[in-house]
Amino acid sequence: MKRATRAVVAVLATTATLSFVVQPVQAGGKDQTLRSAAPRDLRIGTAVAGGGHHVDQPYPDPFPNDKPYRQVLAKEFNSASPENQMKWEFIHPERNKYNFGPADAIVRFARDNGQAVRGHTLLWHSQNPAWLNEGTFTEAELRKILKDHITKVVGRYKGKIHQWDVANEIFNENGEYRQENIFIRELGPGIVADAFRWAHQADPKAQLFLNDYGVEWPGVKVDAYETLAKQLLAARVPLHGFASQAHLSMRYGAPDQLAGVLQRFDNLGLKTAITELDVRMDLPEGGVPTAEQLATQATYYKTVLDACLAVDDCNSFTIWGFTDKYSWVPVFFPSEGAATVMWEDFTKKPAYYALRDTLAAARGHGHGHGHGHH
Ligand code: XIL
Repeated sequence: MKRATRAVVAVLATTATLSFVVQPVQAGGKDQTLRSAAPRDLRIGTAVAGGGHHVDQPYPDPFPNDKPYRQVLAKEFNSASPENQMKWEFIHPERNKYNFGPADAIVRFARDNGQAVRGHTLLWHSQNPAWLNEGTFTEAELRKILKDHITKVVGRYKGKIHQWDVANEIFNENGEYRQENIFIRELGPGIVADAFRWAHQADPKAQLFLNDYGVEWPGVKVDAYETLAKQLLAARVPLHGFASQAHLSMRYGAPDQLAGVLQRFDNLGLKTAITELDVRMDLPEGGVPTAEQLATQATYYKTVLDACLAVDDCNSFTIWGFTDKYSWVPVFFPSEGAATVMWEDFTKKPAYYALRDTLAAARGHGHGHGHGHH
């Protein structure tokens, strides 16, 4: 909350002297949301549920159909990331067919609700359509396929996307280029620079990011990104940011070195972002987390937010869904769950309050974050 007190002045007319009664008023208080609590230069985002694992779940497509979900989405966040709706398999299901409807709907919703959009993603090894994975193409054809896709998708949303995850998960755990990525395998790592150039041509104002998981602690993967970032910048490739997805599990300990990692990229002149934060845990029998687990989860969320707040140009902080109702975690990590900041009925967990209070304190203190002097 904003710590400054607002003076409430009451004139006591019953006495001859004027008395001023000053009461502290919590600015916002229980009405505050994540977006209203946040420092002005920090976007607070969420994934927008649809596509991917949702398709096989026993509920209707979340974003278009769940009204309470849409209300919370509009109220709490000022940034939105299509969870799957801009991925290749979804937006480009056949070689000569694009499916823009659902992505258009998110972009429209975001505009109507004063939200930025994070585009996700253009160059990735996963969730590519069968026609791409199984097709036979010459190098020239494959290159043209990627260029056309980037030009078309980025161009369609020109001026409406704040940040694009241009390259997603391009290194493996050993810091080597992922050979599962068809473009990298067939065309070589130089294709990464081209992807950034094509995206920049299509939307010169969008901020273009590298994005990955497993970069929350220093190590060979972070080293690989730092080396690549330096090379791209030296070659004047339009790279603008480095993002940590921050898919965390309480099995692996707190992300207590994240600020240091982000700072290394900030030092290169890049923006940084948290793009997919969630904190999963091993669920006890019965599936309900203990109070202690929820408290630990809240500290993990807060630690990631604190890391972003500590770094000047970390201007975008996104959680990968805000309700357990639609989380990808139980589907992808059996026996783990409860990874988001709200229960299935949108009531709030300690992690939600940890984020909101931390945001409000940063804003109230006119925190040195970002460029407050602008
Ligand atoms: C996940 C989605 O949440 C699921 O709905 C989908 O089935 C699989 O992908 N890293 C990323 C995200 O960059 O795109 C992934 O999203 C989670 C891991």
